[in-house]
Amino acid sequence: MEKYAIVLAAGKGTRMKTKKENCSKVSFPILNKPLVNWVLDCLRPIGFCKLITVVGFGGETTIELVKDESEVVWQKEQKGTGHAVMMTSALLEDCEGETIVCCGDTPLLTTKSLQAMFNSHEANQNDLTVMTSILSNPRGYGRIVKENGRIIKIVEQKDATEEEQAIKEINAGVYIFNNKLLFKYLKEIKPNNAQGEYYLTDVLGIFVKDGLKVDSFVVRDFDETMGVNDRYQLSIAAKKLQERINKEYMLSGVSIEDSESTFISPDVEIGPDTIIKPNTYIYGTTKIGENNIIGPGTYINNCEIGDNNEIQFSHLTDTVVKNNAVLGPYLRCRNNVVINDSVSLGNFNELKNVEVGEGSKCAHLSYLGDATIGKEVNIGCGTIIANFDGINKHHSDIKDNAFIGSGTTIISPVKIGEDSFIAAGSTINKDVEKEEFAIARSRQENKPGYAKVLKEKSN
Ligand code: UD1
Ligand code: CA
Repeated sequence: MEKYAIVLAAGKGTRMKTKKENCSKVSFPILNKPLVNWVLDCLRPIGFCKLITVVGFGGETTIELVKDESEVVWQKEQKGTGHAVMMTSALLEDCEGETIVCCGDTPLLTTKSLQAMFNSHEANQNDLTVMTSILSNPRGYGRIVKENGRIIKIVEQKDATEEEQAIKEINAGVYIFNNKLLFKYLKEIKPNNAQGEYYLTDVLGIFVKDGLKVDSFVVRDFDETMGVNDRYQLSIAAKKLQERINKEYMLSGVSIEDSESTFISPDVEIGPDTIIKPNTYIYGTTKIGENNIIGPGTYINNCEIGDNNEIQFSHLTDTVVKNNAVLGPYLRCRNNVVINDSVSLGNFNELKNVEVGEGSKCAHLSYLGDATIGKEVNIGCGTIIANFDGINKHHSDIKDNAFIGSGTTIISPVKIGEDSFIAAGSTINKDVEKEEFAIARSRQENKPGYAKVLKEKSN
């Protein structure tokens, strides 16, 4: 059976109360990943002939987030979830198969549940299956109204009678439809309800009236069905996802000292025996090997980290760290940094677009930008590679075993040869050849007794 998916992501998200124009609700992030991408990532493994995201309010922002993995259709005016699905009819109406509709604001859904729901839909030969769960506090959700154990309709909170409001089984906003029947019956819904909207949920009532086969699929873990409508729900969903992800790492052999203050996004990989210390953020496509100590207080985004490294109180983005490096405290690496084996980079260094060769060291307070640094190089405290002339960035090369004295300014582009030695306090703007000694500072002059003279003058 051909499968199709629709993600509804056009709603305004009024309850988020943002004043920003062009900010769609589904672009709010959890663990650095926008809500809508959580939903798309959960759908993708199932495999769809077509996956369509409906965008509207803040649509330009949403398109940027989804365009690589989903087709996009616009819902220019937000007239409800049913109306949003109608926007896909040009792409889907004539397709034979089954269509899942999800909301872009339910980031806790799992692939496992969606797969199980498809299995149940097919095994029972349903025309429509709706995902539900039982909540102790169902306020805000659509309620599942049943008669003699069979679902007959869904009523929204705002349209529900007191009796209906007491129902604890809620609509999770995930549906699998017989595709052709979906588009046939969509034409029949009307916006005569409290919100004046075309409710997708009304299609279910019409299916039932016409004697089509409708069933609910109950998800036991009600967290999965949680929708994010305001910033409080956003924080609750974030906590639940954080715990879900951290637990998985811990069970696979990663130590997390304080799960509450450890934020790892879902696409990260971490090997066993790595220890994550408190207040640490690991985001993006980061891959971390085995037996590292990461944190405390560390931020890592889109990095590749090998084995046996120690990284404390540091901020690393787009950086590769091989093995056995000791980094930080207070190191910053950004924009394409490669740190080879057994490198040591200490306090208050910033590196940008640099490769550091095996065994090299820079213990403190330096800026190293746009350079290739060889093996076993020693870079003294307070070294600056002056890479920018106001218009262009220039590259410098520092070869193996060079010794750069403290307080050196290297004005790029220069080449500093193997086994060379630069005296502390030098300003280097010419190449230094292999084994040369370079000193570039004004000579010191001492004036005997003059300090005393100065002191007397000032009294
Ligand atoms: C919806 C369901 C409700 C269910 C709940 C589950 C309807 C009428 N109600 O309510 O039964 O319990 O989800 O979380 O379907 N959207 C559009 N275009 C629109 C309106 C909404 O694309 O015109 C999108 C939103 O971006 C959102 C999703 O549809 O991702 C759901 O809309 P929302 O307003 O959050 O619906 P709920 O009130 O939560
Ligand atoms: Ca919602």
